[in-house]
Amino acid sequence: MYFLRAAVVAIALQLSGVANGDVIEDRILAKIYGVATKGKTNGVVPTPTGWPEYVIGTATSYTYQSSGAWTTGFFPGTLWLLYQRSLTKTLKVSSVELLSLARTWQAPLRANKDRTDTHDLGFMIHDCFGWDAILTGNATARQTVHDAAIALSQRYNSVTKTIRSWGSISDTGSFTVIIDNMMNLGMLYWAAQQFGNTTLSDIATSHATTTMNNHFRTDGSTWHVLNYNQVTGAVTAKYTNQGYSDSSTWARGQAWAIYGMVSAYRWTKNTAFLDTAIKAADYFLAGLPADGVPYWDFNAPVTGLRDTSAGTIVASGLLYLVEQAPAYKDKYLQRAIDLIDDTIALSQSPPAVYTASPFAVSDIGFNAFLMNGTIDNNPAKTHTAASSNTGLVYGDYYLIEAQNRLLGMGLLAA
Ligand SMILES: *[C@@H]1O[C@H](CO)[C@@H](O)[C@H](O)[C@H]1NC(C)=O
Ligand SMILES: *[C@@H]1O[C@H](CO)[C@@H](O)[C@H](O)[C@H]1NC(C)=O
Ligand SMILES: *[C@@H]1O[C@H](CO)[C@@H](O)[C@H](O)[C@H]1NC(C)=O
Repeated sequence: MYFLRAAVVAIALQLSGVANGDVIEDRILAKIYGVATKGKTNGVVPTPTGWPEYVIGTATSYTYQSSGAWTTGFFPGTLWLLYQRSLTKTLKVSSVELLSLARTWQAPLRANKDRTDTHDLGFMIHDCFGWDAILTGNATARQTVHDAAIALSQRYNSVTKTIRSWGSISDTGSFTVIIDNMMNLGMLYWAAQQFGNTTLSDIATSHATTTMNNHFRTDGSTWHVLNYNQVTGAVTAKYTNQGYSDSSTWARGQAWAIYGMVSAYRWTKNTAFLDTAIKAADYFLAGLPADGVPYWDFNAPVTGLRDTSAGTIVASGLLYLVEQAPAYKDKYLQRAIDLIDDTIALSQSPPAVYTASPFAVSDIGFNAFLMNGTIDNNPAKTHTAASSNTGLVYGDYYLIEAQNRLLGMGLLAA
């Protein structure tokens, strides 16, 4: 759908290796394709039983999660994003093969669609089946997204006016909402539009409004976690789970906030959501170090630890903002391109070893394209090598999505 927006901008922008970088594109493709076809036997990729999540800094291989984990939709999602790109430009892997791989990797995830015990169905279902429905019109995929939207909406509470993040819907005690939950609203809006069910979009807008009012500080920064009282609807605590401290701003949380508010604006055209996204984006951009790649938390004592995934989420979110509010092109387009370029310059992993024709990957090396992602570095928690300085499947997902948006604007060479 981005591609319909056609070439408009160009020339004055500083297009770097990223914006016309077939070398980078091949390197990304080699990583994703290599991981996707790892188990291929007699020409067939077997039904997956684990989904790539992170690569610890000292390893090369992905650590895999079972199908119920919140991150499972991203790997098939990256295959769909590459499929989307292949419809516009010739890649070294055919559209037919990318589509087949995406379906293979997403198929078992369909079992998650009716779950009411998680708020992450947007990531798990919408980021793969949603692309299938949008890009191919597949009826099963479309119905899968609908069912997941209905399931997610069961977590909405009409007193707190939010969707519950953690815990069970029957829990009458704690009621937590994390800023990440903004990312699941797009699925509700899309399903509402497709199936004419305004209850779903009303729930999404209610959640976005409550989050806008309670999760943001006056300077545009955000808290990660809020507790609500289910009887009065009052906020009872504001704190962090993955960030540095309760008063700090966790970079990926801020990234989810920006992207999620753009999404709420896209579907409602309520300028309060756009203004909130802009304020949050300006906070994020002002807090970047000189090399342009975000630290994992804006208020942590500087240790040099990055979260490249926060950078790619914001790059895609800013391009989404420019798509939805073209008046902001001058303000944000170059910043988004810089985020992509700077992240690749600092954190591109060593390239895979591959042959171009036929495209074959003999050694993937570090399985993710980007290094230096941070899952979590809260000092109150027990950290493992998996917590920080890792490759993250979602860091790569949003990088590819951001590049597709540039392609859709005519800014990535077709
Ligand atoms: C990125 O990760 C690699 C691998 O762990 C590490 O060697 C490098 O120092 C990291 N770079 C930054 C800027 O953190
Ligand atoms: C839709 O996707 C399903 C797999 O989820 C597949 O079995 C089916 O063939 C697809 N339908 C079409 C028309 O391609
Ligand atoms: C619309 O969504 C609401 C909220 O999940 C649900 O209760 C209702 O059954 C849906 N309506 C239809 C016609 O599916």
